[in-house]
Amino acid sequence: MRDPIEVLRNVFGHDEFRDLQGDVVRHVCEGKDALVLFPTGKGKSLCYQIPSICRDGVGIVVSPLISLMRDQLTKLEELGVVAVTINSDTGVADRREIEEALEMGQIDLLYVTPEQVATPRFRALLKKIEVSVIGIDEAHCVVDFGSDFRPDYAALSILRSLLPDVPVVAATASADQETVAEIIRRLDIPGAKTFQSSFDRANIHYTMTFKSSKPKEQVLAALSAHKGESVIVYCIGRSTVDNTAKWLKECGYSALPYHAGMKQSDRDRNQDAFISGKVDIIVATVAFGMGIDKANVRAVIHTDMPTGVEAFYQESGRAGRDGLPARSYVFYGNANIVQRRRMIKKSKGGAVVKRTGAAKLDAQIGVLETSGCRRKAILHYFGEAYGSSCGNCDNCENAPATRDATEQANVVADIVRQGSRMTAYQIVMEACSVSGSSGEKGMLEWSAVLQQMVAAGILDVSYGHFCEITLNPAIDVPLKEGSFLMRATNKLTSAKVRSIGRKSSGSASRKSSSSSTTRRAPARTSAPRTRRNPYEVEENFGEGMDLVAALKKKRKQLAAGKKEYLVVHNEAIEQMARFMPRNARELLEIRGMGPKKVEQYGAPFLGVINRFAA
Ligand SMILES: Nc1ncnc2c1ncn2[C@@H]1O[C@H](COP(=O)(O)OP(=O)(O)OP(=O)(O)O)[C@@H](O)[C@H]1O
Ligand SMILES: [Mg+2]
Ligand SMILES: [Zn+2]
Repeated sequence: MRDPIEVLRNVFGHDEFRDLQGDVVRHVCEGKDALVLFPTGKGKSLCYQIPSICRDGVGIVVSPLISLMRDQLTKLEELGVVAVTINSDTGVADRREIEEALEMGQIDLLYVTPEQVATPRFRALLKKIEVSVIGIDEAHCVVDFGSDFRPDYAALSILRSLLPDVPVVAATASADQETVAEIIRRLDIPGAKTFQSSFDRANIHYTMTFKSSKPKEQVLAALSAHKGESVIVYCIGRSTVDNTAKWLKECGYSALPYHAGMKQSDRDRNQDAFISGKVDIIVATVAFGMGIDKANVRAVIHTDMPTGVEAFYQESGRAGRDGLPARSYVFYGNANIVQRRRMIKKSKGGAVVKRTGAAKLDAQIGVLETSGCRRKAILHYFGEAYGSSCGNCDNCENAPATRDATEQANVVADIVRQGSRMTAYQIVMEACSVSGSSGEKGMLEWSAVLQQMVAAGILDVSYGHFCEITLNPAIDVPLKEGSFLMRATNKLTSAKVRSIGRKSSGSASRKSSSSSTTRRAPARTSAPRTRRNPYEVEENFGEGMDLVAALKKKRKQLAAGKKEYLVVHNEAIEQMARFMPRNARELLEIRGMGPKKVEQYGAPFLGVINRFAA
């Protein structure tokens, strides 16, 4: 057997193993199963590639995407490793040739899609060849409660039963306990040793910013620090991708779009242009990037809130894979939260899926609104304690204005300590009742306290069945006076309870709302707040577009052949979509909606909004 360190140096050209890589490689080379949990970009691939080369036989790597395999194959080819793929694109003649080479033991690594593994032909082939290692890349795809679920991944335990003596290496950047347990179960590798490296990507700087009324300017400001560098700009929705790419080009940047609605050949061309450095910026939906290994991406910009902390970490983690300084920027707004809650509510999953979705969204809001270190909050989400502050995030560099919320935190801590298996919803209700605060305002306040206690690592959430909340045993409660700070104003919490209606899934009930004035961030300080028009139109990065369309349809009906802007103009429609007023009084605050208009058209528009928010 070849020496792993010799292969690392002579084949891959790296001096040393990173982090736990060496431990994994040695473990697998001894024929034992491993579960590799490293964050994006830490170097999971080597964990199955090197044992495949060191051990006799061919390493079989299951990978969910053909583009991802292509990327790895190109790299391996350049290094002189004999690696091939069998997938749905492989022609008959090629396939026969590959099979022959496999039988003759001439191949180091074979990349396959899970669909291939399921075919009888592939299973027959396995009986005829010597296999060194089974690598399951992006192993979280076996998990059916995850967003990347691939049904064929669920059947991969067949590999274990066909090749009981071959070590399995399952690799993923997703490390929550439920996912890990499910991977072990589905792949039938109960004895696998887990190798979890720190999830910290210390070279990535984090900035998270509430969208102003001019989010495009915010994006340009972020980009101006990265002229001539490789940057990924993530947008929600295909048309937003196209528009943003076009707009960036107009601004003088070298940018290309990437989304699933484009022709495959165009997509590949743009991806190659970005990877080879011919173009600086790729503007993409999150369809771009899984497993793409471009080492020198200097920044990842999210023009909207990512779909969760995991997704955020994956996506932002595409920056700085070379280990050099890199930046992540997130711009988020209330509409993002409204839409997320709506999607969770509408999702086809059962109560557990919805509850988990709501709890994870709370966690994300916690990270976005924390006044403390972003890295600490993110790593706590992944179950990792991070000592102090990192000095490499926006909050560490520029502490936001805060208020002391220790007293409230101690109320919550008390409830959590005394109760058992309480959900966020139950705790918030209890806190309202203990404190005598009622209605929506109370719910909002206490939800924010809870979210921030989670972000600060004082509370733990189990994202399993009940999503119950517990005290972090490492923290002493009651908290010392003045030790728990929250932002002076939390901008996100206003929209979420109001428009979604938290029910048993761990959220506040819409029925409980008693006032209609809470759409703005509830005033948490006694200091007078400068009142800005909360309905300033935000340039739209794609959010709320389906509601806009529905409202426009209604307007067309109402216009009954007349000019539509005489009913209401576009700006009003956009504001309605963004702020989702619930009643005539709130509708009056939309620019252009005077008492007469509200009387005349209020009910039909509110009807559309209510159906949308239901
Ligand atoms: N020991 C090492 N020394 C130097 N560079 C390394 C080492 N191991 C891996 N790398 C580099 O780190 C980068 C990321 O590696 P890899 O693609 O395996 O990451 P990953 O953990 O699979 O990430 P993802 O979750 O995004 O797939 C690659 O460019 C690789 O060349
Ligand atoms: Mg990988
Ligand atoms: Zn920090």
